[in-house]
Amino acid sequence: MADTGVKGIDRNLTRYGDTAFSRYLRRAFLSSAGYDGEDLDRPIIGVADTSSDYNTCHRDMPALVEGVRRGITQAGGLALVFPTISLAETLLSPTSMLFRNLMAMGTEEMIRSQPMDGVVLLGGCDKTVPAQLMAAVSAGLPAISLVTGAMRTGSWQGERLGACTDCRRYWLRHRAGEIDREEIGEIEQSLCPTGGTCMVMGTASTMACLTATLGLMLPGGATPLSGSGDRLRQAVMSGRRIVELARCGADPSKYLTRASFHNASVVLAALGGSTNAVIHLIAIARRAGVTLTLEDLHEAARDTPVLVNCKPVGTGYMEDFHKSGGLPVLWKALESRLDTDARNVNGTSLGEILEDTPPPAAWQETIGTLEAPIGPPGALVVLRGSLAPDGALIKRAAAALDRQCHRGPAAVFESPDDVAARIDDPKLGLTTDHVLVLRNAGPVAMGMPEAGSLPIPAYLAKEGVTDMGRVSDARMSGTAYGTVVLHCCPEAAVGGPLALVRDGDPIELDVEDRRLDLCVPEEELARRKAEYFPPPAPDRGWRRLYAEHVLPAHLGADLDFL
Ligand code: FES
Repeated sequence: MADTGVKGIDRNLTRYGDTAFSRYLRRAFLSSAGYDGEDLDRPIIGVADTSSDYNTCHRDMPALVEGVRRGITQAGGLALVFPTISLAETLLSPTSMLFRNLMAMGTEEMIRSQPMDGVVLLGGCDKTVPAQLMAAVSAGLPAISLVTGAMRTGSWQGERLGACTDCRRYWLRHRAGEIDREEIGEIEQSLCPTGGTCMVMGTASTMACLTATLGLMLPGGATPLSGSGDRLRQAVMSGRRIVELARCGADPSKYLTRASFHNASVVLAALGGSTNAVIHLIAIARRAGVTLTLEDLHEAARDTPVLVNCKPVGTGYMEDFHKSGGLPVLWKALESRLDTDARNVNGTSLGEILEDTPPPAAWQETIGTLEAPIGPPGALVVLRGSLAPDGALIKRAAAALDRQCHRGPAAVFESPDDVAARIDDPKLGLTTDHVLVLRNAGPVAMGMPEAGSLPIPAYLAKEGVTDMGRVSDARMSGTAYGTVVLHCCPEAAVGGPLALVRDGDPIELDVEDRRLDLCVPEEELARRKAEYFPPPAPDRGWRRLYAEHVLPAHLGADLDFL
């Protein structure tokens, strides 16, 4: 527990049963690093560093750490950099989501237990930012989030490429036999040309924009590219600002209000942002004591058109968004829909920020207006029905229109491994009529991997099929697209209706009507339910703790005791 009324290096003293001895010993060890009384009397600012060889999205982070340190020193503070867990989306099995709450716990405890008056949280890759925000809210210290920023785009045969919408698009063409092994190898070398996070409006970009909208990042901090001067200046400014926040003790609860979550919900819709952000926003709101439901997010999306032309719902990339003015210009375009009393760590209200922000310029094509949007309202739709009584989600803006009202027979896969083993087997006889069902991929089952956008069977891809109805209790990457129904709650591993589906059962999807139904008589489902056995639970360690305590996706998938 944090010491109250104690500041700086004397916070959170090690308990030896002799307070003066604890102070003396702490100073003795810090003197070995060259710190003297002048250093240690300053506000102490922790800098959470998530650099890791395993996390290429954070490759440019060391320069940001130095920028933050410079800003902190300039403002009269002392920067103490500390490591935390780092979560890289593509290098963790079974999924980084299994470890979001572990990172949140670890980060919270390091903020709580070490001496610091404020903290700068350096993140970027998908789960790192939500984990850090959850930690900061619970730790209750002044905090500023700083992200690494997106990668620049690559190119192949003259076409701009971005991770990972284009990764998926070209992989589908490779599976369809349109692109050979050598060509896909060339593309592999071109998709991620620099350090930084995925440069489409995937989860990392979405969460950066939502963090700034929630007020926990400097207003211009969401879109500068990794490694750019703009990005480095954000680091220095964040360092300067956190010292002021530490002096006045403004913690995240000052910014995380009903108004800020309303604004984040509207911005998520206007971005055509990642479905993963729905889970993260609900989890952060829960930590902040603000009620935010799937219905709140559905209503915000229903009333808000898509205003940002970025993949996967548009055609552009984060560098286009940034060059067009970035997030503040999007806020300006949305001004009439936002609560302008919401406040930001830079010390101003959204209304004050917008007084100096121009509307979208006529010369650019990335940020639309409410009068001339990029896409219609309803990018995200919350579905309910007999297959998802507690809710499911579809990113309508990224789904084929002709698939959004569909009834077809289920083809059931028991796990992501089962998909990998059987999806291309012609003996399954799948057609575009089928609805591919994946179960046992929810939070309890395996931490909710991004397996929901099941691959189109290779033999159908070769016929030119690019989309099919898919339903699961999994997530999908924010960079993915297709008629993909996600986050079915309750999940199969706790006996949700998804566990009862059998091959050939009719499934009905009606996005307009917000329905997802398993068209099997109730008596038959009751009979199947009586025969249901849950899959074996993990027997030790974090995976066991997680499976025993994780909340369902519609409640944010945090642990129930946090
Ligand atoms: Fe890190 Fe996409 S893999 S942001």
